Amino acid sequence: MSTVNTPGTALVTGASSGLGAVYADRLASRGFDLILVARRVERLGVLARSLAEKYGVSVRAMAADLSAPADLQRVADELASNPAITMLVNNAGASTLAPVVDTPKAGIATMDKVNVTAVAELSYAVLPQFKQRNSGTIINIGSVLSFHILPVSTIYSATKGYVMNFTRGLQQELAGTGIVVQLVLPASTATEIWELSGVPLAQLDQATIMRAEDCVDAALAGLDQGELVTLPSVEDQALWEQFDAARLALFAGAMRGKPASRYGIAG
Ligand SMILES: NC(=O)c1ccc[n+]([C@@H]2O[C@H](COP(=O)([O-])OP(=O)(O)OC[C@H]3O[C@@H](n4cnc5c(N)ncnc54)[C@H](OP(=O)(O)O)[C@@H]3O)[C@@H](O)[C@H]2O)c1
Repeated sequence: MSTVNTPGTALVTGASSGLGAVYADRLASRGFDLILVARRVERLGVLARSLAEKYGVSVRAMAADLSAPADLQRVADELASNPAITMLVNNAGASTLAPVVDTPKAGIATMDKVNVTAVAELSYAVLPQFKQRNSGTIINIGSVLSFHILPVSTIYSATKGYVMNFTRGLQQELAGTGIVVQLVLPASTATEIWELSGVPLAQLDQATIMRAEDCVDAALAGLDQGELVTLPSVEDQALWEQFDAARLALFAGAMRGKPASRYGIAG
């Protein structure tokens, strides 16, 4: 549990590279002890040692394949039973970018398990202790592909759409409590995920790519500013507000109890 002097322990999934490794660095610099989760435990070990030395915090590497139910359960058990945990960063993500029929079945399953099931189950595991203490932070990493779909991102966008709706639902459930839930929606960021997804970074418009450090620093600044939804690269915040207002208006417009007149069905 956090004390006046320490912010407690943050569990960061997908900390072996990219955004997760930067989150680990930045949270350690803020005094968080860390539990770092990923499959590549050697990388986690190297990062854990360097962060412990650099910032004087305690860092533990936890090898887990979040697409494997037993490993996911082990991480969930840690979140449910370790009272030092004050923050969960659901950052791990998998991406295969291809049309649906060209996506290997295993790739679909992995995206579902890592991007969807793990986010929900890890949040589910940590929330009871957060609720009991009326404090704690969950940061969920969605994507601009949470609200947009490309012909090669059908499955990935579907999973990231889940992250967005799941997170916004939690925010409503927990409104007025001391628990903070932040949705982060990055655009293209320079990490290994692109090569793994089958679309190398070199194929993108280089002007659209953000540094991973900048993305996490902006996201944490958004958290500090109390933002519920952080779009690190979007300059005009009114764009999100308009998008959200259109969503609310559309929902309200659907609550009519009768077919729209354009269908010609007499009521
Ligand atoms: N980069 C972008 O352009 C971008 C844009 C929007 C959103 N995002 C999101 O940002 C998050 C971080 O991704 P990144 O860009 O930093 O990519 P990354 O460098 O490839 O990092 C992904 C992390 O997830 C972990 N991971 C993947 N599959 C896993 C599994 N089965 N079990 C446990 N850990 C697993 C990886 O660790 P191991 O391989 O060691 O397991 C790695 O640490 C993801 O949710 C991604 O969807 C990225």
